[in-house]
Amino acid sequence: VPDVTSKQPDGLVATPGEIFVSPAAYADPERWHAVAAELRRTSPVHLVEAPGFRPFYAITRHGDVMAIERRADVFHNTLEVMLQPEAIDAAQRELGPIARSLPTMDGDFHRAHRAATADWFRPTAVRRLTERIVELAETSVDALEPLGGECDFVTDLALQYPLHVIMEILGVPRLDEALMLRLTQELFGANDPDFSRGAEMADTIAVIKDFYRYFGAIAEARRHAPADDLATVIATAVLGGEPMGKLETISYFLLIATAGHDTTSNAIAGGLDVLLDQPDQLERLRAEPELLTNAVDEILRWVSPVKQFMRTAQADIEINGHAFSAGDRVLLSYASANRDETVFADPFRFDVGRSNASDQIAFGFGAHFCLGAHLARLEMRELFRALLQRVAHIERAGPTDYTQTIFVGGPKRLPIRYRMAANSEGI
Ligand code: HEM
Repeated sequence: VPDVTSKQPDGLVATPGEIFVSPAAYADPERWHAVAAELRRTSPVHLVEAPGFRPFYAITRHGDVMAIERRADVFHNTLEVMLQPEAIDAAQRELGPIARSLPTMDGDFHRAHRAATADWFRPTAVRRLTERIVELAETSVDALEPLGGECDFVTDLALQYPLHVIMEILGVPRLDEALMLRLTQELFGANDPDFSRGAEMADTIAVIKDFYRYFGAIAEARRHAPADDLATVIATAVLGGEPMGKLETISYFLLIATAGHDTTSNAIAGGLDVLLDQPDQLERLRAEPELLTNAVDEILRWVSPVKQFMRTAQADIEINGHAFSAGDRVLLSYASANRDETVFADPFRFDVGRSNASDQIAFGFGAHFCLGAHLARLEMRELFRALLQRVAHIERAGPTDYTQTIFVGGPKRLPIRYRMAANSEGI
């Protein structure tokens, strides 16, 4: 991926549209949002023609993102569902799909595959997990105690906790979690030298092959000895009288395993990041824990860990006065939409009591709305509850370092200093 920002002595992007293709631009959220705000005002549907990428329109306003998501009949996800360099798109076209999971499906095919696990993720099913998630949240916060009052919140807590949750739900043994974490970081952090296995398509394929080997064995084991876990539901799914396809089955594992933790880790770390910058908001949450549910939405609005997904128009269509032609590619910028000043009053103010925080669209919208949204919200709420109860004081011990990414990201290092509460009530 061309690093357009580094060409500028002060780190500024050369043209506004480049914020969507530059991993370094996303790693400077303040500046990224300043450029996005300008685009919302002056060019909300912005044609981006950047070196190394096929042209696309960046959709930056909340109402336009929602309107496009509503027309899933015309705007298809297709196999190229997230923005990636043209070279990777081309290699994928040549190789054929290396993964076939929900976000790359459309229409009835998508509906049938989504239905196979949807029951597992409904609010009632997720509520049944509450007790275990509270336990995992509390254990994760308690693990800070032996670290002696200073640590990196990302490595020592934010990365570990959602990983435990999703791996338990999937039925992956605890011993293999480190492997899952490394592979997910290699997959999502392919643009970040700290995580990447290599810059070539072959490196990404090698990571995916490692996932396939691992989940292929789990699926096989569950078919022989079914258990009460999501892995068994996926491994034994029957669609229209036929077992789910092999590629689709393994891709399902890959999707749940990856979508289920890096996203939530980034949301949690990004949430603490902004709370540490605004201690009045942290104190308000301590005083009014009933605001936690709302605060989770405000954190999601603020952080938007999933930066974008793409759609491709299958026919000419007009959306809110913008004409699109068949074949046009649009990038749905959740990060920008969540700061839209026409929806969120004073959008650059972080406010745990914001009255319409739940209008945030960090989970997307419509047919592909995040399957794990209820689970992610529960995980976030219980983690922050445990943190407020068990840590008496917490402050920043250094600057936050953000992941270089154009897809999923947030803080990759968040040094903190803290004092545990003398009892579990907190102060
Ligand atoms: C804070 C955490 C999370 C965020 C911000 C997030 C965000 C998203 C977004 C933006 C989409 C695409 C929506 C669209 O195209 O309209 C999505 C899809 C998806 N997410 Fe999440 N997600 C999170 C956590 C999770 C968790 C915990 C799981 C659990 C397994 C999960 C599973 C999925 C799946 C399976 C899809 C594909 C749905 C489909 O295409 O039908 N996500 N997520």
